[in-house]
Amino acid sequence: YRVDWDLEQTEKDGFDHFMLKEIYEQPNAFRKTILNRIDAEGKHIVFEGLQWSSEQIQKLDKIFIVACGTAYHAGLVGKHVIEELTRIPVEVEVASEFRYRRPIVTDRTLVIVVSQSGETADTLAALRESQRLGAKVLAITNVAGSSIARDADEVIATAAGPEIAVASTKAYTSQLIAFYLFGIYLAQIKETIPEEERQVMIEALCKLPEQTEAVLQHADDIRMYAEAIKDHSSLFFIGRGIDYAVALEGSLKLKEISYIHSEAYAAGELKHGTLALVEEGTPVIALATQTELYEKLVSNIKEVKARGAQVLGITLEDNVELHRNVDDVCLVPSTLALFTPILSVIPLQLISYYASLALGHNVDKPRNLAKSVTVE
Ligand code: G6P
Repeated sequence: YRVDWDLEQTEKDGFDHFMLKEIYEQPNAFRKTILNRIDAEGKHIVFEGLQWSSEQIQKLDKIFIVACGTAYHAGLVGKHVIEELTRIPVEVEVASEFRYRRPIVTDRTLVIVVSQSGETADTLAALRESQRLGAKVLAITNVAGSSIARDADEVIATAAGPEIAVASTKAYTSQLIAFYLFGIYLAQIKETIPEEERQVMIEALCKLPEQTEAVLQHADDIRMYAEAIKDHSSLFFIGRGIDYAVALEGSLKLKEISYIHSEAYAAGELKHGTLALVEEGTPVIALATQTELYEKLVSNIKEVKARGAQVLGITLEDNVELHRNVDDVCLVPSTLALFTPILSVIPLQLISYYASLALGHNVDKPRNLAKSVTVE
């Protein structure tokens, strides 16, 4: 077995676990996913394989995003992106619910299924049900030859490369990149954002790989934080707007591999229930990247601080104010409001990784979970 072990070490490129390797592969996964999808002048998004005419796109009156697990969380970000850029209403639903109800899907509906593996049974069934109801289906997937890629009408392939660790990292962020590209593409066809704004977005998008590298340079600070919270029995993630979607993903990641109970809450909802669970020393991770919602979020931070919570705030580097309201701050580079999830999720991935490691768990293969769920 010596041979296997060596082989596995080589595959891990010197990293201790696949998950850590995959976290560090994110900047290149983004570069590859963006590659060839922006024209030479940096002004337009191009999707060479996409066969839909602009008339077909113009007549869309609704979009469903359907997926499971982490891919569902990518869909929650996708909703913000598409609605903001195109004003087409978007509903996001987990595939196991969608397939067993009577969703209102017509030939003017676009269904986007999101799946790293392209083999998740519920997502595949949702795809087929949507087609039966007359909708066109676009798949965002990481595996080109997968069942979902084969059955979908159109495919946007993410170029994250093989993801081995059960906890998804680079596949999730590459799915976000796919949503950014597709959202800008729709807006370009529907002319829902001015050309200059589109160009600003494309420039900001191209900076994300380098900005992600900058976040990864602070992994040691994040490791210290993870080691400090590892023995807590429960933890909360809060955020508003797109930050709430990221909070859900951060919380899932922590549960999956460190087995620490955690909950993500839309910060404004805290006082309607969960606040009762916050007591002296409870760790709370507050995502505060949205300038428009910032003041509102700070008042929620004050609510938990008043009950004794220990708060880590995650915000953009030009925020010079947050540190006064929290115990610890993690700064990420500044970017457009819609793009912050790419950068703010990185510390959350690292927190779950280092907490799991410190607790001695099997990081890459957590108990009870499988990488791909091909049966119901
Ligand atoms: C499993 C994995 C998750 C993943 C989900 C959906 O539960 O453990 O990491 O998000 O399936 O998988 P998919 O391949 O469809 O994205």
